Amino acid sequence: MKIMVLNGPNLNLLGQREPGVYGIATLADVEAMCVAVGTRLGHSVECLQSNHEGVLIDQIHAAGRHHAAGDLLGVVLNAGAFTHTSLALHDAIKGCSPLPVIEVHISNVHARESYRHHSWISPAAAGIVVGFGVDGYVLAIEGLVRKLSAK
Ligand code: DQA
Repeated sequence: MKIMVLNGPNLNLLGQREPGVYGIATLADVEAMCVAVGTRLGHSVECLQSNHEGVLIDQIHAAGRHHAAGDLLGVVLNAGAFTHTSLALHDAIKGCSPLPVIEVHISNVHARESYRHHSWISPAAAGIVVGFGVDGYVLAIEGLVRKLSAK
């Protein structure tokens, strides 16, 4: 089965962007980690990044279709700042139910500015991983696989 790892705006800048907050791993490093953990667990991992809300919505819709067809397990999503603004991403996830989406944040958004405390993704997410640095992507993939194999 396939797992989709979807990264939103500015996550292409990982490694150079506020390293004190997000660390020094690049997006390529993160995607390689995701592929490695997927392979270890017997799944293929497709990684995508976009700075555009509509592209992320289209990718969720595509994931919903693949999930319905039985060839995609779920999505690991770091929606970046769209987390805090995008009712449209919330609606996309809800609209693709029962597609499982695990929300990831590299930083602990709850320990940061108050405008990062609200998430439009959380009420639609199957699980949330926050504040573990880029290891959060690995934890999210492991959690997704465990959650679905427990069913
Ligand atoms: C982030 C947290 C968001 O508030 C921020 O806008 C990001 C990254 C994180 O991974 O910690 O772009 O999602």
